[in-house]
Amino acid sequence: MKGLVLSGGAGSRLRPITYTGAKQLVPVANRPILFFVIDNLVGAGIVDIGVVISPETGSEVRAALGDGSRWNAKFSYIVQERPAGLAHAVLVARDFLGSDDFCMYLGDNLIGSPIRPAVEAFAARPEVSASVMLKEVPNPRAFGVAVLDASGRIAQLIEKPEHPPSNLALVGVYLFRSASVFSAISEIKPSPRGELEITDTLARILARGEIVHHDIVTSWWLDTGKKDDLLLANETVLDAWAVAEVRGVVDGASRVTGRVSIAEGAVVERSTIRGPVVIGAGARVVDSNIGPFTSIGPEVTVLRSGIDRSVLMEGCLVEDIARLEDSLLGRRVRVRPGDARAGAIVLLVGDDCLIEFARTS
Ligand code: TTP
Repeated sequence: MKGLVLSGGAGSRLRPITYTGAKQLVPVANRPILFFVIDNLVGAGIVDIGVVISPETGSEVRAALGDGSRWNAKFSYIVQERPAGLAHAVLVARDFLGSDDFCMYLGDNLIGSPIRPAVEAFAARPEVSASVMLKEVPNPRAFGVAVLDASGRIAQLIEKPEHPPSNLALVGVYLFRSASVFSAISEIKPSPRGELEITDTLARILARGEIVHHDIVTSWWLDTGKKDDLLLANETVLDAWAVAEVRGVVDGASRVTGRVSIAEGAVVERSTIRGPVVIGAGARVVDSNIGPFTSIGPEVTVLRSGIDRSVLMEGCLVEDIARLEDSLLGRRVRVRPGDARAGAIVLLVGDDCLIEFARTS
């Protein structure tokens, strides 16, 4: 079976981070989301993987993933000229997929359980045309939604319904047979938002009387498309997978509790770190309180500050900030006091940034 990882798209909901980088490479627990995706595919024995990339962020994705040898896998890159939908991404991968069965995995989705059992079950049941994973969600309006009939089979699939008939969302991992899915895509039209939808493709497969199997995901599933989802993903991954491992230097005046991973070359002085926390290589944390649920990226400097439930990407500087929380800082962001007049703030920020501070009244 082949893998198809979707790592193109516009990423408009994660601006401004996605102006300068691929959303699939935003780190949770200091690792790009995409790496967790590849881990899960390779863990299921899928090593021939096509990666769909966009012209804008494709070179960054290629540079991060390489040729696959790090995972003992083989990656082929497929450029999708415009983000015309998940089913469109399958179409552009046609030459790569050939006539093979494949697992399509959205490059910004994180799942707390291995996909291996679903992949093995699909391989063992040739009469099943497609297999999906469903998860109960509180906000089904934001997803493709499945309705089950009395016998528990999928009866209906609807993309982002205004009045959701169920709270079962389609998780971003799908198993397909090439002949079935290409024939279904040839029969669908772009949706009102102008995309060739994978939900419509699956609905078409169902309508032709083919079998679409489903599994209910009982572990966590996170779609990291927006800032708060990303912070929740960081929290969940740290909670589930962080390990206590100190390779950097922690001085005797610091206190490190819980699962805290400090990379080689990182320095912690006169600080309190409450896990789960990860601190990247070359980071400096001085006279500060960090955590819980915080990822401090490589080469980040934190001086005399408190940081909680946040992701700081590579090269940031946070200085004299009593409390920074629920924050996502892109690469090389600096937050510090300056020469502003009392009560004033001075900003140099790009488009679509979000700045929130405590109300004074
Ligand atoms: P989405 O999050 O649905 O779309 P998006 O990346 O365009 O984001 P936004 O809505 O914020 O603008 O995409 C799910 C995944 O699939 C994501 O990793 C991007 C990828 N994708 C493609 O590779 N090609 C596409 O045409 C689309 C729509 C998404």
